[in-house]
Amino acid sequence: MTAPFVDLHELRCHFKSGDNLLAAVDGVNLQIAAGEVLGLVGESGSGKSTLGRIIAGLQSRSAGNIVIDGKTMPHKYSRRQFRAMSTQIQMVFQDSYASLNPRMTILASLQEPLWSLGVKGQAARDKAAYWLDRVGLPQSAGERYPHELSGGQRQRIGIARAFIAEPKLVICDEPVSALDVSVQAQIINLLQELQREHNTAMLFIAHDLAVVRFLASRTAVMYLGEIVEIGPTAAVFESPRHPYTVRLLAAHLDGNPGERVLRTATPVKAIANRAPLATDGGCRFAPRCQMAEAACSNSPPWLHASRVKTEAACHRLVDIEIINSKLKA
Ligand SMILES: Nc1ncnc2c1ncn2[C@@H]1O[C@H](COP(=O)(O)OP(=O)(O)OP(=O)(O)O)[C@@H](O)[C@H]1O
Ligand code: SF4
Ligand SMILES: [Mg+2]
Repeated sequence: MTAPFVDLHELRCHFKSGDNLLAAVDGVNLQIAAGEVLGLVGESGSGKSTLGRIIAGLQSRSAGNIVIDGKTMPHKYSRRQFRAMSTQIQMVFQDSYASLNPRMTILASLQEPLWSLGVKGQAARDKAAYWLDRVGLPQSAGERYPHELSGGQRQRIGIARAFIAEPKLVICDEPVSALDVSVQAQIINLLQELQREHNTAMLFIAHDLAVVRFLASRTAVMYLGEIVEIGPTAAVFESPRHPYTVRLLAAHLDGNPGERVLRTATPVKAIANRAPLATDGGCRFAPRCQMAEAACSNSPPWLHASRVKTEAACHRLVDIEIINSKLKA
């Protein structure tokens, strides 16, 4: 197997919150292969953006190792190291306005990532003009300023800026959730076209599970700073194994078969008035889990592979698979 482009080992990012430490990312091990699209889902606050920002070098980590293209990254980047890293890894943000300099014309904003690569003058202008066209904007848009464009047009510029220096990985953090529904599909299609054209790896963070299902070949599910399930997108969506994934999919997608697993396994009445289980040292999802049993609060579950080639961090995977196969029979 070829080495992954991004390889994260026990990555942690803890923020101070009063007297406590908040573990936004807590022991993540994750690989992103060259050219693959990895979807990252999970409810608000699960640590998706923090993880993306750490990989892009925009947020420092508290612990763990980051290996990019075979090289171990320093804990703190010098300006030169950051510039070298950011030619390989770019981000597309939800708020395209905040990511553009309001005092620079669009044409200048597009050229900026090229200047640090030594591409200047006419060569940079030509490349910016090509990318304006490639993302579907007229050349006249190059003379405008960010506030003169619509949200969809600005996001096209954000995408052009991310791809213009031909990075190996583009991290998209909710790239369409601030846009009108009418333009969301166009932007998603544009991202997919560019990703395929340039064979760029992509980490695609989104709440919209249907979009992740459409774009990503693998999907990772985050809960409270940890990856609780990861695998091929079809397997995660069609045979979710972790009870949290089942809950997340059931809340967003109609007719998710995994929800039947939970209903069958635990009569709803039995859990209705149960107090949350203590989670110290145990599974973080236990207080909300319909499958929880005493053992779940004693030791943390690790990611385990299965026959369907997803990995899930849960002590009761064997029971879930038995119920799953009975339901399918
Ligand atoms: N700079 C920061 N200082 C303190 N806490 C932070 C900081 N950044 C993030 N957090 C906290 O870390 C946790 C994870 O935040 P993060 O933004 O990564 O979640 P998310 O999964 O991207 O959520 P959303 O889906 O809402 O974008 C949250 O509890 C958040 O409040
Ligand atoms: S380990 Fe236990 S509490 Fe955690 S998800 Fe699995 S069954 Fe639920
Ligand atoms: Mg976020």
